[in-house]
Amino acid sequence: MKLRHTLGALVTAAAFALTATPAFAQNTVKLGLIAEFSGPFAEYGQQIHGGMKAYMKQHGDTVAGKKIEIIQKDTTGPSPDIAKRLAGDLITRDKVDFLVGFGLTPNALAVAPVATQAKKPMIVMNAATSIITTKSPYIARVSMTLPQVTEPLAQWAFKNGIKKVYTVISDYGPGLDAEAAFTKAFKAAGGEIVGGVRVPLQNPEFAPFVQRAKDAKPEAVFLFLPAGEQGIAFMKTYKERGLAEAGIKLIATGDITDDGVLDAMGDPTLGLTTSFHYSAAHDSAENKAFLKAYADANGTQKRPNFMAAAGYDGMAAIYESLKKTKGSVDADAIMGALKGMKIMSPRGPITIDAETRDVVQTIYIRKVERVNGGLYNVEFDKIADVKDPGK
Ligand code: PHB
Repeated sequence: MKLRHTLGALVTAAAFALTATPAFAQNTVKLGLIAEFSGPFAEYGQQIHGGMKAYMKQHGDTVAGKKIEIIQKDTTGPSPDIAKRLAGDLITRDKVDFLVGFGLTPNALAVAPVATQAKKPMIVMNAATSIITTKSPYIARVSMTLPQVTEPLAQWAFKNGIKKVYTVISDYGPGLDAEAAFTKAFKAAGGEIVGGVRVPLQNPEFAPFVQRAKDAKPEAVFLFLPAGEQGIAFMKTYKERGLAEAGIKLIATGDITDDGVLDAMGDPTLGLTTSFHYSAAHDSAENKAFLKAYADANGTQKRPNFMAAAGYDGMAAIYESLKKTKGSVDADAIMGALKGMKIMSPRGPITIDAETRDVVQTIYIRKVERVNGGLYNVEFDKIADVKDPGK
C-alpha cells in the first residue's frame, strides 16, 4: 500500500515535470521576425527572410543542440504601432527568444523599448538610422548606418572634382542622417552645399523636387532614398527632366541601385556612382557561396540585395552566439557573445563593435556597369574598417 502510494506520487511528479518545463521549448530557439511583408516596402521583408533562409539552407536548422524556428510577422509598412504590438505578441504568446528583422527605422525604434523591457536580443538586419543601437542595450546591428556609407562618398566626390552639391533625401531618420553626414564631410573637404530638399517617405512625387535641384545648378545631386520602387521612379524623373543633359551628375548611397531593382531601373543608371557595403557583384568566395545558397533557398527570379546579405549575416551572428553560449538564450550571455564578434560576410569582413554593438565594415565606391547582360554595382575603390562616424 505504501509502495503503491510512493510510485503514484513519483508518476505524478514526473508528469508535472514534463508539463511544467515543456521539452519542446527548451530544444527550440524561436526567432520573431518583424519586417515589412506587404505594401510598397514588401521587398524588405522578402529580402531579409530570403537571406535568413539562405543561411539555414547552407548551415542547417540546428545549432548548439537547438532547432531554429522563425516566426514571421508583417508590419505592413512604416507602422511603429503595429511593430510594437507584434513584438509584444511574439514575446508573450509565441515566447520568442530573439527579435529580428526591421527594414524601416520607425519599426526598429518602436520595438527597442520592448526588447529592453522583455530582455530579448534584437538583431537589426536593415534599419540604418545611426541612433537605433543606442535605444536598447539588447540591440546589435549587422546592416549599416547612413553616416557610415555617406561620409566616404562625400570625400570621394570632392576628390574627384565635384565642388557644388544639392542634396535630395527622404524626410525621416536615415535621410536626415545622410543629409547631415554628407553636408559635414563635404564642407570639411572644401565643398559647397547649394541647397537641398526633403521628400516624403510615403508616395513621393519626385518631379517638383527634381526640378528644384536642376534650377539650383549644382555640379552634382547627392541622393538618399530608401531602397526599392522609389529609385525606379526617381531615375525616370531625373531622365525626363534632363539633369544629365544639363551636366548635373548624380551620386548616391547604394540604396538607390539596390540589386533587387537595378535591372528594372535600366540604362539611365549606367555610370551612376554610389557608396555602399554590399554589391551582388562583390568578388569573393563567401559572396559566391551566398548567391548560390540564396538561389537554392529562394529560386533564381530575384537577385539578393544588401538586406538579404544582412539577413544572412544576422543568422550567422545568432548561430555563432548560440555556439558560444552553448545554446543558452539568456539575453546578457547572447549580447556578451555578440560584442566584438567578427564574421566573414558576403560583403567582406564585418565586426560587431564591442562598445556600440553597431557594425564596422568596408565601404566600397561603385559604378553601375553592364556585366554579362545584367546591370551591376561594380566596386572600384574601398575604405576598410569604417565605423558609424557618429559614435
Ligand atoms: C531605414 O528605414 O532605416 C532604411 C530603409 C531603407 C534603406 C535604408 C534605410 O535603404
